[in-house]
Amino acid sequence: DIERRVEALLAQMTLEEKVGQMAQVTLDVIGVGTNRFSSAEPFAVDPAKLRDAVAKYKLGSILNAANNRARTPQVWEGIIQQIQDVATKETRLKIPVLYGIDAVHGETYTAGATMFPQQIAQAAARNRQLVRRGAEITAYETRASAIPWAFSPVLDLGSDPRSPRQWETYGEDPYLASEMGREVVKGYEGEQNNVGAPTHVAASIKHFMGYQVPQSGKDRTNAYIPLESLYEYHLPSFKAAIDAGAHTIMINSGLINGVPMHANYDMLTKLLRERLGFQGLIVTDWGDIDNLYKRDHVVANVKEAIALAINSGIDMGMLAYQYEEFCDNLAANVREGKVKQARVDDAVRRILRLKMQLGLFEQPVTHAKDYPKFASAEHEKAAYDMAAEAITLLKNQNGLLPLKKTSKVLVTGPNANSMRALNGAWTYSWQGEKVEDFAARYNTILESVQKEIGAQNVRYVPGVSYNPKQDGKYYDESVDKMDEAVAAARDVDAVILCLGENSYAEKPGDLNDMTISPLQIELARRLAATGKPVVLVLNEGRPRVISAFERDMPAIVQTYLPGNHGGDALADILFGDVNPSGKLPYTYPRYPNALVSYIHKYAEEQKKGDGVYNYEADYNPQWEFGHGLSYTTFKYANLELDRSSLTKDGQLTVKVQVTNTGQREGQEAVHLYSSDLVAANVAPDVRRLRRFDKVSLKPGETKTVTFTLPAQELGYTGRDGEKVLEAGEFEIRVGDQMKKVTLTDSGSASAN
Ligand code: IFM
Repeated sequence: DIERRVEALLAQMTLEEKVGQMAQVTLDVIGVGTNRFSSAEPFAVDPAKLRDAVAKYKLGSILNAANNRARTPQVWEGIIQQIQDVATKETRLKIPVLYGIDAVHGETYTAGATMFPQQIAQAAARNRQLVRRGAEITAYETRASAIPWAFSPVLDLGSDPRSPRQWETYGEDPYLASEMGREVVKGYEGEQNNVGAPTHVAASIKHFMGYQVPQSGKDRTNAYIPLESLYEYHLPSFKAAIDAGAHTIMINSGLINGVPMHANYDMLTKLLRERLGFQGLIVTDWGDIDNLYKRDHVVANVKEAIALAINSGIDMGMLAYQYEEFCDNLAANVREGKVKQARVDDAVRRILRLKMQLGLFEQPVTHAKDYPKFASAEHEKAAYDMAAEAITLLKNQNGLLPLKKTSKVLVTGPNANSMRALNGAWTYSWQGEKVEDFAARYNTILESVQKEIGAQNVRYVPGVSYNPKQDGKYYDESVDKMDEAVAAARDVDAVILCLGENSYAEKPGDLNDMTISPLQIELARRLAATGKPVVLVLNEGRPRVISAFERDMPAIVQTYLPGNHGGDALADILFGDVNPSGKLPYTYPRYPNALVSYIHKYAEEQKKGDGVYNYEADYNPQWEFGHGLSYTTFKYANLELDRSSLTKDGQLTVKVQVTNTGQREGQEAVHLYSSDLVAANVAPDVRRLRRFDKVSLKPGETKTVTFTLPAQELGYTGRDGEKVLEAGEFEIRVGDQMKKVTLTDSGSASAN
């Protein structure tokens, strides 16, 4: 039925109506104000601008929040009602506008929306159910704001810790990212991807692909990725989300091997459309059609840029501001034969189909009053639960943690009393700077610790800022409190030192030095020198190098960016109410010049003897991917494979027993890795994550964890981009257990 309606509508459309549908602008463009880049506050729709954009130019889509400011669901409803009234009452074909927004770890631009831990922390929780629940809640709260389309999840591989967006990813492992991404797509769109349900939104998986690994480490620059790596590491998460039914996809703003992704026909049409069979809408990232001539110099002007992008496979341009030149030039390109009418029809068909699937023709505006659970205690609890499972105990010498609730502590460091740092960016604004508007509702680390053990037992000294000013004065002189913090440490039982980063997203988060900032190092060293036990709490979007003082810190906890309830979850872990169970979703580097992922070749391993001298091996991390301690201990035993040899069409069943050998209940994320011992086409990776599951165990309890693994998943991508499955020996590891299996070209599998 939808297909019939799409064709009937398309048949009535003029070229101008079609190109308008392919344009998306930011909300500021239709706001009262003197220019297009920002509108006046409080925001109000300018009816003349709205009519120009939607009635005259027939724009198909609008995005994000005016002036980058969060608004209540009711205000959103009012804005979107005005837009849809013009679209559905004042245009010839009454096509509703598709509103899209960066709902990232919660509905970013809705005031008071539930804010979950950021994606990197969600991956650390290794809990599929929690991640799906988080996505369901985000979808609900996005629809509460009358918005049906979320630019999320990020499925780029976060395998370069220099990237300013690593925290927006699920970390460095393709399988982990695929599993998380699938849950979020289903959480947003529903198990059957019925995006028209009033509590579902369409997902926009992004940024296709290889976005987070540019050679420079700087946002939106060129990445060199060989074909086999692109397909082996960067593609699987997108493929999994496409297979899970994701309705839309956003494209990588950067270049791969010197070719801007927005101009890459091979990637957008041959791979994404034809090989992966992606049927949904392909949208650009911000201003990326303009970037083809303004930044990348692959075409000479805007008209050529539009033709190149649309011919490469783009359906909708996130233009940001200048819609007239897009619409006029695209129409001219079609009239001149530079863009085929059929390509435009194909794009518009996908846009109309999505609008129909979302139910926008029947109900262009959902109503805030129909969403009573918006920011409810139930939703906030889900955010807390995720933070409690994400926070990762990296080090705990002599069982320093949990601290006694009768302790007297000093809380210090630039991240000790900041909701902004706990949440990171894309929280009530792009860079997260407006988080403080909502800070009173939630607890910073300091406030949570005060609640946990009583304010009278907590001394707070801010300590230092992140960076000194050039002239030697501190960035903000109110936090030049290093001496005071060190003096206060002498009067307490333990120090909770909260270091890390402030919030940042995209370009503003580019980095020249992976090492944590010098003032923070100095504070850590001086506190350690007091002899008081220091619990280092890291609150950072990417793993900043801390090897200069790590040895002096007896306990270290990674919080990542744990969201509005991260302080509460952390305090519960520090004082023993919650047993930590997070596992690193990335490799924590020891040195700035050794940023090697756990997925690496044998050449990067430390090896001596047999004529192999590789003393300065790159892979020597501070902590490995998957590292994370508990307040109890787990023992792995009796790893069993159901067969010792496996045919290429066969399947392996792996069982292992996990026992809680400690004194308290705990959760353990069990990881299964495989190692291909010899591979000829491309040298094998030392190991690869193939499966994981999280189990909960009471003291003394044993559970058997079972995984099944098709032989095909032991394969890899060869030099020509095709899958290779070579016969030979493989090691299967779970915890400290290992068994070998032989993959045979043919013949019957032998059971154990
Ligand atoms: O969705 C984002 C993207 O991740 C980065 N550039 C802007 C888009 C829309 O805000």
